[in-house]
Amino acid sequence: MKINILAIESSCDETSASIISDGKILNNIVATQSVHEKYGGVVPELASRAHQQHLIPVVHEAIQSSGIPKSELSAIAFTKGPGLMGSLIVGVSFAKSFAYALGIPIIEVNHMQAHILAHFIEDPKPVFPFICLTVSGGHTQLVLVKDFLQMEIIGETSDDAVGEAFDKTAKLLGLPYPGGPLIDKYAKQGNPRAFAFPISDMAGLNFSFSGIKTAVLYFLRDNIKLNPDFIEQNLTDICASVQFTLINMLMQKLKKAAKEYNIKEIAIAGGVSANSGLRSELKILAEKFGWNIYVPKIEYCTDNAAMIAMAAHFKYLKSEFCGLDVVPDARLKF
Ligand code: KG4
Ligand code: ZN
Repeated sequence: MKINILAIESSCDETSASIISDGKILNNIVATQSVHEKYGGVVPELASRAHQQHLIPVVHEAIQSSGIPKSELSAIAFTKGPGLMGSLIVGVSFAKSFAYALGIPIIEVNHMQAHILAHFIEDPKPVFPFICLTVSGGHTQLVLVKDFLQMEIIGETSDDAVGEAFDKTAKLLGLPYPGGPLIDKYAKQGNPRAFAFPISDMAGLNFSFSGIKTAVLYFLRDNIKLNPDFIEQNLTDICASVQFTLINMLMQKLKKAAKEYNIKEIAIAGGVSANSGLRSELKILAEKFGWNIYVPKIEYCTDNAAMIAMAAHFKYLKSEFCGLDVVPDARLKF
C-alpha cells in the first residue's frame, strides 16, 4: 500500500491541509485569514477562531480532491511549533482526534524545518550539505542542512524577524497587513538609494532588525513634521530603500556563512523568500560566487501544509511517530 499522509498547518494565520502520497504532493489547500488586515498584524485570538472555522472545510477539500479515501490514510501530520499557541492547539487537537478515530499514527513536524524541506517538493533539489536562509514573519535563520532531518542553526536574529521589519515598516506607512508583499510591489517602482538607513552588524552570523524599525519610525516622524504629505509623495522610494537595506543585511550574513562553511549550495525559504528583490539579489550573488541557488515556488514559501506533508513523509520513512499525549510547543527549536 502507498504511504498516504494528511498534513495540517495552523501555526499562524493560514489554515492549510495537504495530502502526500509516496512522497508526491497531491494538493495544498490554503485558507488565508483576511480578518487581520486592518489590525496591522496577526491577532492571536482571532487567528485561533478562524482556524476553528476553516480547518474542517480545508481538510475535507484536501481529502476529496486527492481521491484517496480516509480509510487509506497511513498517518496524520501536524505542526507542533513554533507558532502561536492558540493556533497550534487547533491543528494539534484536530490531528490527534482524527488519527484516534481512524486508528493511525501521528507525526509532529517542526514548522521551520518544514519551510526548508519545501525544497524537496519539486526539482531542482539542493544537495547536502546546503545552507538555507529561512526568512519569515517570526524567524530569520541561517541553517546548515546536513540531511533531511539533520539541521543546525548557525545564525539567527537576536530580536525581530526580517518579516516583522517588513510588516512594521508597512504599518508605519499606513499599509495593511501583511505588508511585505506590498513593500515588494512599491519597491519595484522606487529608487533603492533614495534614502539611507543604518545597517546593523551583529557578531558572527547573527542578525538584528529592531534598529531599522526604529530608524524608519524616526525618519518618517521627522520628515512628516516638515512635509505632511511626505509618505504619499515618496512611498515607492521609501519602500525601495527599506527593502534594499533589509536585503543587504540578509545577504551580508549569507555570504559570510557560505564562505565560512565553504558551501556553494544555497537555498532560501519562508514567506520573505517570496520577495522579488531578494530573489534577484540572490541570482546576482550566485553568478558572482558560483553558487547553485534554490528558490521554492511562491505557494511553498509562505505558510502551507505541503511543506508539513513533505517533512512528515521523511519522518514516516524513519518511523518517527509521536504519542497521542503530544502538546504544541510555541517555541519549538530544532
Ligand atoms: O512564512 P510565513 O508565511 O509565515 C510565518 O511563518 O511567519 O511568512 C510571512 C511573512 C510576513 O512577514 C510577510 O509580510 C512576509 O512573509 N512576506 C514578504 C513577501 N511575501 C510575504 N515579505 C517581503 N516580500 C514579499 N513578497
Ligand atoms: Zn512560516
